[in-house]
Amino acid sequence: MIELRNAYKTYNTNGNDKNVLENVNLRVERGEFIILFGRSGCGKTTLLNIIGLIDNLTSGEYLVEGINAEILSRKEAAKYRNALFGYIFQSFYLLPDLSAGENIQLPMRYKGMPRDEQKERTKILLEQVGMAGRDKEFPNRMSGGEQQRIAIARALANKPPYLLADEPTGNLDTTNRDHIVHLLSQINKEQGSTIVMVTHDRELLKYADRVVEM
Ligand SMILES: Nc1ncnc2c1ncn2[C@@H]1O[C@H](COP(=O)(O)OP(=O)(O)OP(=O)(O)O)[C@@H](O)[C@H]1O
Ligand SMILES: [Mg+2]
Repeated sequence: MIELRNAYKTYNTNGNDKNVLENVNLRVERGEFIILFGRSGCGKTTLLNIIGLIDNLTSGEYLVEGINAEILSRKEAAKYRNALFGYIFQSFYLLPDLSAGENIQLPMRYKGMPRDEQKERTKILLEQVGMAGRDKEFPNRMSGGEQQRIAIARALANKPPYLLADEPTGNLDTTNRDHIVHLLSQINKEQGSTIVMVTHDRELLKYADRVVEM
């Protein structure tokens, strides 16, 4: 479970404090598909980075699986981040010098998984995202929708309980947008992954169990 209590994030620019998050209270249970919805600049990415242990609150509490994020050392935060969260971004962030398969294997390699297991799991992941047999291809030869499928497979590589998706369809046309969100919904239902997705696209709200308007 993810739980934010009285959460504030304040940035100081040119001597002025600005509350980007103000008294946010949010609970996400395991297995939910929730959408954080709001206009540009309202703090969606900021909130997702706090949830993913990339950033810290200014005040308030953030508990993930009962662990208080504010008291974690950098090293501990990194450990929990890798174990708990898979990240998907608007601009995919695949490494251009690695093939699709190598991109997917990267998190498994960092974890020290044996090579044959990496290959076996990559094959399964490619099937799951509808890209079976495409492991040798390079990202820059793929369409945006295909690149996002590879990025989703990479995010799932180490079976994280939580998937955090920051505007994952922002660079896609409506057909690919619908395919990608449908895929996320399927992953949520079939594998029980908890999904927190950020969007400003009203058309996507129907996919969520719950919408949090920011
Ligand atoms: N490091 C920072 N220092 C100062 N201000 C920041 C910083 N990061 C973000 N902000 C400000 O915080 C606000 C929220 O930013 P954030 O990126 O979370 O918005 P968002 O909802 O994700 O927007 P978008 O939909 O455009 O991606 C913005 O006004 C931004 O300028
Ligand atoms: Mg953002």
